[in-house]
Order: sequence, then C-alpha cells, then structure tokens
Amino acid sequence: MTQEDLFKNLIAHTKEDGYIFPSSEIYDGLGAVYDYGQLGSELKNNIKKYWWESMVRLNENIVGIDSAIFMHPRIWEASGHVGAFNDPLIDNKDSKKRYRADVLLEDYIAKLEEKINKDVEKGRKRFGDAFDEAQFRATNPNVLRNARKIAECTERMVAALNANDLDALKQLILDCEIVCPISGTKNWTDVRQFNLMFSTQLGSVSGESGTIYLRPETAQGIFVNYLNVQKTGRMKLPFGIAQIGKAFRNEIVARQFIFRMREFEQMEMQFFVQPGAELEWFAKWKETRLKWHKALGMGEENYRYHDHEKLAHYANAATDIEFNFPFGFKELEGIHSRTDFDLGRHQEFSGKKLQYFDPEKGESYVPYVIETSIGVDRTVLAVLSGAYKEEKLENGEERVVLKLHPALAPVKLAVLPLVKKDGLPELAREIMAELKLDFNCQYDEKDSIGKRYRRQDAIGTPLCITVDHQSLEDKCVTLRDRDTMEQERIPIADLWKRVDEKVNMRNLLKQLM
Ligand code: GAP
Repeated sequence: MTQEDLFKNLIAHTKEDGYIFPSSEIYDGLGAVYDYGQLGSELKNNIKKYWWESMVRLNENIVGIDSAIFMHPRIWEASGHVGAFNDPLIDNKDSKKRYRADVLLEDYIAKLEEKINKDVEKGRKRFGDAFDEAQFRATNPNVLRNARKIAECTERMVAALNANDLDALKQLILDCEIVCPISGTKNWTDVRQFNLMFSTQLGSVSGESGTIYLRPETAQGIFVNYLNVQKTGRMKLPFGIAQIGKAFRNEIVARQFIFRMREFEQMEMQFFVQPGAELEWFAKWKETRLKWHKALGMGEENYRYHDHEKLAHYANAATDIEFNFPFGFKELEGIHSRTDFDLGRHQEFSGKKLQYFDPEKGESYVPYVIETSIGVDRTVLAVLSGAYKEEKLENGEERVVLKLHPALAPVKLAVLPLVKKDGLPELAREIMAELKLDFNCQYDEKDSIGKRYRRQDAIGTPLCITVDHQSLEDKCVTLRDRDTMEQERIPIADLWKRVDEKVNMRNLLKQLM
C-alpha cells in the first residue's frame, strides 16, 4: 500500500472512530477547520498535559500563563505581523481560483521530481541487477534535463521570495508554463501579498480604529506579559514562560488534513536569557525538545532537524524539528533564537520599559529570547500517523491498531465481561468503579470478545481486562496487551498497580530528566 493510501485510510479511520470530524459537516464543512470528537479531544488533552508538565512542572524556572486571544492592535504592528505576515497570492482569471505562488512552484518542482523517480524506476526494471542508480542519474538525458529545471526554478524562486519581488515570481510561473489545475489555463493575475491575520471589530466601533485581530501566534501574549510575570513571580534570568492556546491564520493553501489549519492550537515557550548566552541556550533547547518527541517511541529515524540558512531579520539562529509524516518530512516544531527583537519592539511601541535588572551585573537590559513553538494539532497528526498500523496476524486475520503511547491513549483500559449474565457484568462494573477514579475506562459487553478486542485496538486502548466465570471464584482477571496481544491472568487486587505502571504520564516525563 502506498503512503498516500495509508494516509487516506488514517483520515477515514479518525472520523469513523470519533477522533476528528470536519467542522460544520452537516453544512458541507468549512475549509481547513476541524472538530475533535470524543477520542480526539482526550488525545489532544493528553498531548497538552505532556507538554505542559514537561515545561512547567519539570522546570522550576518555567511558569505558565493563559493570555487572551484578543490583544491591543498595536501589538501586531510592533511584532511585524501587520506589515509582513503575508503570503504571495495569484489568481487564475478563468477558474477564479486563488493559489499561493510559492506553492504552485513547489508543486511544479515536486512533479519534476516524480518524473525523475519514474525514469529511475524504468531504468531499474530495464537493467535489472546491473543497474547503477548514481550513474543513471548522472547520465540519463531526461533525468538531467528535469534536474536542471528543478535547480533553476528553485534558485529563481528563493531569490524572488527573498527580495520580495512579486513580478519575478509571476514571471517564473509563466516561464515554467504552470497551468491552473482547475481551468488548465495560464491566464494569471499579478502576484499580490495577502495578510494572514483574521480581523474583526471590537465592540460597536466599526472602521479602522475598532479593528482588532485574532492572534496568529500565542507568543505575543507572553512577550507583553513578560514584566508582569517576572515581577510578580520574582523570576531571575534565565527563566521561561509557557502558554497553550488557540491561534488563527487565514491560510490560503490549507491541505493535508490537520497539518495546516485556519484555527489551530499552539504550545509555545519563551525562554528569557542574558544577551550573549542565547546560542548556548538555543543548543540546549534544540536537544531538550527533540528528546521530548523521541520519548513518544515513534522511531528516532522519523525526526530530523532542519536548520534555517536564511534567517528572519530578528533571529540569529533557527531550526525546525521535522517529522516523517505520510507525505514526507515536514515541520512539526520551530525553535528560534529571537534576540531582543520582540521585547525591544514592544518597549518602543508601548513606551514602557521592559528591562530586567540583573543583580549580579548591577545593570538593566532587555533580555534575549529562545522560543520553542509547536502545534498541538500537528502533534496529534504526527502521533496518529506514527501509531496507525494495518497488521496481518499469524492466523491470517487483519487488524487496524493505533499503537499510541499508553500515556497519550484516550482510553486507558476496557473492562469486558465475557458474557452478559451469571454475575459477570456486576463484577466488571465493580472493577471499573474503582479504576475509573484514576483512569479513563470503557465498559463493553456487546459482541464476541474477539470483536471487542478489535474495537479497542482500533481506538488505541493499551489494556483490556476480561472478566470470566473463574473470576468469580479466584478473584483474578485476564489482562490483554494491545501491542503484543499477550494475555495474562492477574489478581483483581493487582490491577490498579499494573494499569498505573503502563499508562502513567510519569513514564514519559522520566525519560526527559
Ligand atoms: N511563534 C512562532 C510561530 O508561530 P510558526 O513556525 O509560524 O512559528 C509554530 O508556528 C508551529 O505552529 C509550527 O511548527 C506548527 O506546528 C504550528 N502551526 C503553524 N501554522 C499552523 C497551521 N496553519 N495549522 C496547524 N499548525 C500550525
């Protein structure tokens, strides 16, 4: 099965099993907006808990806040979002469809790469064991021609984007003879910049003066509260402020399911340090954050850093942690050394001093900042795509299983009486009444035990407890493990400890220390 098919199956599975629904579905949905169902919201809460506790509980010098989505509009001028948070857009005059110019070019490059791969596969078939891929790529005229086109297009695109040269971007689209996927024509408008922030009106005031924005990142809520937290918490450098919250971006090319959404959630942490110490802290946070991802057990090979060569004007180092999504390695988290840019700008725009008095140095200065910024939804997608397996079992049967880390799994255990009579449901209910005080449990007595196990595998429940007739006698139950499918007879009195050992978030947090 191709990765594309697997991804389609995953999307269908998340809907069928109550993880993720298209928003406003009975009204035919709303582009790039999704709702989390009964299991998705539990998974999301567990991810947020893992992040929050790893930041705020494990680090004595990091505290958390919850700032408002609406903020003073001057904040977005100071941060640069009003002037420069833009995407270059182009419309096709025939289909009236709007595209991101850089995405049209990236799709063109991806198609050329696909052609090259097809040629290589053809060569492999033709030459069999004697096939030398490196030599083929270095000499085959079709491959060479397409590789040249890719290099030229990439170079011109990067130059045009860096120089903010919108005419050059349009000319490149024309030179590459890119057509609209809907109309099939090259009848393009000029490229224009389009701001990604959503705006609305505050109170009854309409017009420019009442315009406020839905925040496009949570970070600014931290910057503008920096001094409140530092003073009231008596924080000493280095220290961090963490926040989880909604962010909104009017993404034009919204695709790949919950990878790029218009309403999403971020988990951001700004770490304030002495000027000059920022690169050392940047390296530390790079390492710490990768460790956080790897603890989830989805394969070390599925993560990599992508260090930015071209830096935003305010940054002196930046990297992405990329995950191997079903559509390839893509950004999951950004780590940025933002210098004193944000605090400096807010100081300038608000007229209020945002300095730190350093008792050791006996001087005041604006701290430098390392930011770690990760999308909750993108993490949900990474976790689900890493966990989704279609397995063929030894007995020839197939099962769909979500091999989620037990600490993240929405349902921790299912309690299953073997039959619906003879006092088994009553004993099962008794067991569940005790366990549900600490763990999210499901009770299920419908269908055969095999079917019930499959249902729990499909939603990622790590443990199933089966209550049978013997349980009434010996006060033992069968504990079944989702991943190994092994079954073990254990006393009811030991259940709490065994479940706790398996699903407690402590297992994840310990790996970070
Ligand atoms: N404060 C820095 C900042 O917002 P960003 O790279 O624009 O940086 C950080 O976003 C993270 O937020 C990304 O790595 C991604 O996980 C998530 N993110 C950004 N835009 C998103 C979108 N449209 N949909 C879902 N997640 C998004």
